[in-house]
Amino acid sequence: MKVLVTGGAGFVGSHVVDALLDGGADVRVLDRSAAEWLDENAELVQGDIRDAAVVRDAVEGVDAVCHQAAKVGLGVDFRDATDYVSHNDTGTAVLLDALWRRRFTGRFVLASSMVVYGDGRSRCPAHGHVVPPPRRAEDLGAGHFEARCPVSGCGASVAWEPVAEDAATDPRNVYAATKLHQEHLCQAWGRETSATVVALRYHNVYGPRMPRDTPYAGVASIFRSALAAGRAPQVFEDGGQTRDFVHVRDVARANVLALTSDGVEPGAYNVASGTPRTVGDIASALAAAGGPGGPKPEVTGQWRLGDVRHIVACPRKAAEGLGFVAAVPFDEGMAEFGSERSAALAVR
Ligand code: UD1
Repeated sequence: MKVLVTGGAGFVGSHVVDALLDGGADVRVLDRSAAEWLDENAELVQGDIRDAAVVRDAVEGVDAVCHQAAKVGLGVDFRDATDYVSHNDTGTAVLLDALWRRRFTGRFVLASSMVVYGDGRSRCPAHGHVVPPPRRAEDLGAGHFEARCPVSGCGASVAWEPVAEDAATDPRNVYAATKLHQEHLCQAWGRETSATVVALRYHNVYGPRMPRDTPYAGVASIFRSALAAGRAPQVFEDGGQTRDFVHVRDVARANVLALTSDGVEPGAYNVASGTPRTVGDIASALAAAGGPGGPKPEVTGQWRLGDVRHIVACPRKAAEGLGFVAAVPFDEGMAEFGSERSAALAVR
């Protein structure tokens, strides 16, 4: 089986490449640049996902496609919008067009994200399941971090519940909008070609090779960079924000299952560990991984308008439909990530 991995030199993509090679697949990578960790057994096509001629060559002769190439993160400000749309939307359209011309009908796996959900699923103690509006600056400024029940006259703090794939989508930033649009483009193409399209909605991925020192990285990377520089991780709000941190090797395995398992149904699947933690927990775990005497996390009360308070995945559909259950325990994964060993692995 020959698999094309777009973005295969990147953080998640390179782990997918490793896992596919370990499973005996032939792998072709389409990426703008090589990376020192890219396995030499993978064939590299160097070029841009938006370059139709390059992409036409890259899709030649492949049986399955794993589309990881994207501009990630939440962006710095709206000036990033054109770049996100160009890489993520146009890039995907160019890839699908090349596959359509080739009459490709194999498996197509898209790297999507939990950001398509907006806020997670919430329950009001009085009104049951509710969809709270984005949190207000006045509340955040006053240290009220929980979202409020939208029922008129209620306004109680809501509690989180795991979000399943049939939850309404609500992309709240440009990156999220492009991830959902990618899903829609792929579904439209899948209907025209009868190829099987699987969108993997990654929750918070972490692990070796995670980009460092960039405003586009997630919180685990930001905390690790701070600790490495001898600074205390700055924990926003009260540190009680909940996320599902899933290890990149687990994410790679979910991709391999989606690409190769028999009878996979098309559609979206959460890729998560199933063991939610708070941002405060992550800061403590990474600080502990650095050993005693290092900086301790500081809970700052700062907040970013547009941050989601809690987003926690229901991992059931991926378990039943893909046979995916995360295997790397939080403590082990974070200890490895926060330690020197992980830093060494990251530049392997
Ligand atoms: C992250 C990614 C998003 C990805 C999603 C799922 C980024 C910027 N966001 O979203 O692209 O799709 O995971 O994988 O890559 N925080 C701190 N201190 C800091 C920075 C952040 O306490 O220095 C807090 C934030 O307030 C937030 C939480 O950490 O509550 C997570 O932040 P972050 O990782 O940036 O974004 P996510 O919303 O989880």
